[in-house]
Amino acid sequence: MCAMIPDLEGYFRGLVPQVDDLLVELEQEASREAIPIVGPVVGELLFILARVTNAARILELGTATGYSGIFFGRAGAENNGRVVSLELEEAMAARARGNLARAGLAEVVEVRVGEALKLMAEMNETFDLIFLDIDKESYLPALSHCRRLLKAGGLLVADNTGFTGAADFNREILSHPAWRAVHLLSFLPRHSPEHDGLTLAVKVAMSGKLW
Ligand SMILES: C[S@@+](CC[C@H](N)C(=O)[O-])C[C@H]1O[C@@H](n2cnc3c(N)ncnc32)[C@H](O)[C@@H]1O
Repeated sequence: MCAMIPDLEGYFRGLVPQVDDLLVELEQEASREAIPIVGPVVGELLFILARVTNAARILELGTATGYSGIFFGRAGAENNGRVVSLELEEAMAARARGNLARAGLAEVVEVRVGEALKLMAEMNETFDLIFLDIDKESYLPALSHCRRLLKAGGLLVADNTGFTGAADFNREILSHPAWRAVHLLSFLPRHSPEHDGLTLAVKVAMSGKLW
């Protein structure tokens, strides 16, 4: 008979993708300073999603120190593309630029400073993939901007959808005809927090959902 592996969380904690010294340093720094970052499991997931979708134009909302931006930058570089990352705090953006330069990604990832909703409202570029990782109350208001800026068939990934602030976003994206979405309740070692929701959605064509 098939049995489950005992202590699944401990087991999967031992199966976390390895990251390089720079990312380990950023994880340690984030832990010391209580900076919420995606960690190696979601980081690797973001890299894989960006690679398999061949995303050349990536928009990240919420840069922090550039940890997730490094995963996107590496995927973007392999796709001959670029990443735009939006960050509210000038000091955080400066740290991120330094870390991205250390990763050799200064030319691939552009960090823009400002309130994400305001910056998005002024943008007219089209993106293949958008990653949502700002204050959770802004997720719902950001959704219409994501819809405008994402190509049809583009991928939207939202982190931290287990937070109460994301609840209205979670309902809206599941029921809105412009999106086909799935919410994943996940165990994510070294993610902040380790138990959280992760949401993946594709922007469907104007004709609506295909079922
Ligand atoms: C969860 S952290 C991002 C972590 C990063 N994605 C990573 O995993 O390495 C959120 C960041 O978004 C910034 N932020 C929060 N609300 C924002 C907003 N409305 N507009 C722009 N940046 C925002 C915060 O200053 C913080 O640095």
